[in-house]
Amino acid sequence: MQSTIVEIETEALESIEQAFDSVVLEQITIKYLGRKGILTGFLRNISSLSETERPDAGKNANILKEKLEKAIQTRQLKIEAQIDEDFQGIDVTLPGRFTRRGSFHPITQVAGEISDIFLRLGFDIAESPEVETDYYNFEALNIPKYHPARDMQDTFYVSENIVLRTHTSPSQPRVMEKTKPPVRIISPGKVFRCDSDITHTPMFHQVEGLMVDKNISFGDLKGILTTFIHQFFDMETSLRFRPSFFPFTEPSAEVDIRCVMCKGAGCRICSKTGWLEVLGSGMVHPAVFENVGYDTSQYTGFAFGMGIERLAMLKYGIDDIRKFFENDIRFLRQF
Ligand code: DAH
Repeated sequence: MQSTIVEIETEALESIEQAFDSVVLEQITIKYLGRKGILTGFLRNISSLSETERPDAGKNANILKEKLEKAIQTRQLKIEAQIDEDFQGIDVTLPGRFTRRGSFHPITQVAGEISDIFLRLGFDIAESPEVETDYYNFEALNIPKYHPARDMQDTFYVSENIVLRTHTSPSQPRVMEKTKPPVRIISPGKVFRCDSDITHTPMFHQVEGLMVDKNISFGDLKGILTTFIHQFFDMETSLRFRPSFFPFTEPSAEVDIRCVMCKGAGCRICSKTGWLEVLGSGMVHPAVFENVGYDTSQYTGFAFGMGIERLAMLKYGIDDIRKFFENDIRFLRQF
């Protein structure tokens, strides 16, 4: 019996001494002194001891009970003193410190806005590699080697047949090779051109679009792109489709919008024309369909490509494309 009391004492005092806060101390109190506590149970069992054992056991248990109560009290005071010390000089009534939350880069945000509009129109998103073969970046898009149209884009060559893609258009043959019509995709991503000034950076972003099915006409191209421009800018934005040339589309058109700055009056941004070019588009060239094995007597389609930085600059009135990549936190925080 005696040894049990001694055991309880050693164990209890040790855990009281190690209690680091009031919650733990409370748990210890319950463990030993609570209604179902260890020491309480011991006291309750005394009646079952022999008459010779009983008086000593009772006395020792009561002494221990007082000892533990005192130890718990002392420990509690120490814990409180420690809290006072920890909070020395801290005014707990002051408001909490504000932590800034991060946000998406403006280009990521605009890419998301563009994607959302096309997703609502029933387009899917297709991914395509940034390091591309000469075949997909040029040949499959009806731009043969030594064709002067290659000069339209200043290409970074990795090796003779591998390039950093100069546009997102290679996603067109890549998707068509793997899917049968109908096709309705957009493909956003990074593109690379050896070019750098106030409106050009060696890396920028584009979104490509492609829709192929039976009976797709230039009217569908106009309808989809008009809806897109109205949703991205606003319903009042006027557009014009201006004849152009791209090797992978025929006929081709560039889309201009009424200048968002001067509303058409003519300003520095639109070079006094009142119009801003925002994207390239056209009906998919039959040669591109042939390259991917699509039956040109059955299917027609349209494609388009636009620069994300350019759209972001126009929408948010940013005059220097390099701002997107300098990562000046004061600029980025505005979005
Ligand atoms: N790839 C062209 C460029 O980077 C943009 C473009 C024009 C894409 C016409 C198209 C298109 O899909 O039909 O300048």
